[in-house]
Amino acid sequence: MRKHNSRSGVAIIGPGRLGQALGRLLAQSQVPISYIAARHLDRARQAVRFIGRGRPLALADPRLQRALVFLLTTSDSALAQVAEELAKQGSGKDVWRGKVVLHTCGSLPSAILRPLKLRGAAIGSLHPYQTIPSPRAGVRNLRGCFWGIEGDRRALQVARRWVKLLQGVAFAIHPTKKTLYHLSAFLVSPTLVTLMEQSTLLLRKAGVPLGISRPMLRQFVTETTKNFAEIGARSALTGPAVRGDWTTIRRHLAALRRAAPCFVPVYETLLQAMLRLAGRKAPRRLWADAR
Ligand SMILES: NC(=O)c1ccc[n+]([C@@H]2O[C@H](COP(=O)([O-])OP(=O)(O)OC[C@H]3O[C@@H](n4cnc5c(N)ncnc54)[C@H](OP(=O)(O)O)[C@@H]3O)[C@@H](O)[C@H]2O)c1
Repeated sequence: MRKHNSRSGVAIIGPGRLGQALGRLLAQSQVPISYIAARHLDRARQAVRFIGRGRPLALADPRLQRALVFLLTTSDSALAQVAEELAKQGSGKDVWRGKVVLHTCGSLPSAILRPLKLRGAAIGSLHPYQTIPSPRAGVRNLRGCFWGIEGDRRALQVARRWVKLLQGVAFAIHPTKKTLYHLSAFLVSPTLVTLMEQSTLLLRKAGVPLGISRPMLRQFVTETTKNFAEIGARSALTGPAVRGDWTTIRRHLAALRRAAPCFVPVYETLLQAMLRLAGRKAPRRLWADAR
C-alpha cells in the first residue's frame, strides 16, 4: 500500500458497493484516499483491500478528523445519524471549518449533512446516474457516467474535480427536486430489471429456455434503448398500441390475467401512457372488455 498524506486526504465513510468502487477509481486517479471507516472494522479492512489504499478505521476513531474531505457512502437511511455522530467528533467550535463533506444519495439533499455545516464544513452531494450492483460493476461503469451535484461552493469544486477525473459529466440538480430526479432513475433501472424478469417468466411459460431468453432480452432491450437515444421516444415506439391493434391487446390482457394477474394493472397503466405517446385513442370498449 502506497504512503500518502493522511492530513489532506479523503475519508470514505460506509464503504458499500458505491463507496468501494468510487474509492478504487479515485485512488487510481491519484486522489489521496487516507481513511476508510465503517461501523465494523473488518468491513473497513475488506474495503481497504478492494480500494487498494487507505487506513481502516472504526467510525468513532479520532484519527478520522485528520482527513480534509469526507465521502459519505452509507445507505440513505443512515446518513442523518452518521452526520450527527461525525459532527460530535473533535473538540473546538470550528473543528470542521475548511473540511468538505459529500454524500452520494440521489434522493436526499445535501442539507441532510447540516450538523456538519453548523460546525463549519462545506457540504454537498454527488450522485452517479448509474446502477452499481457490486463494487466490481461500479469500477467498470462509473467512468464516463453522469453525476447530479448540488451543495456549497467548495463542496461543488471537489465534486466537479472528481467527476472530471472520472471523465464523467456533472450537472446541477436542485436540492428540492431530488426526489423527482431519483424517481426518474428508479423508473428505468430497477423497474426495467423487474419487467425483464417478468418477461423471462412469460417466456418460460411459453417454452423458451433461459439460455435463449436472457441473451434475447439483452439484444432486444439494447436495441430499444439505442433507438430511444437516436430517434426519440415517439419514433422508437413499436407494437400493437402504435398500430392500433386492439385485438392483440385484448388477447394480451386475457393471457396476462391467466399467467400473471398482478401485472394486469401494470400493463393497463403502461398501455395508457403508450397510447398518449403514440397520439392514439383506444376504443371505449377496450377498457370495458378488459374487465
Ligand atoms: N448502488 C447503486 O446502484 C447506487 C447508485 C447511485 C447512488 N447510490 C447511493 O450510494 C449510497 C450507497 O449505496 P450502496 O448501494 O453502495 O449501498 P450498500 O452497498 O448497501 O452500502 C451501504 C454502506 O452503508 C453502511 N451503513 C449502513 N448503515 C450504517 C450506519 N448506521 N452507520 C454506518 N454505516 C452504515 C453499510 O455498512 P455495513 O457493511 O456495516 O452494513 C455499507 O457499507 C446510497 O446513498 C445510495 O443511494 C447507490
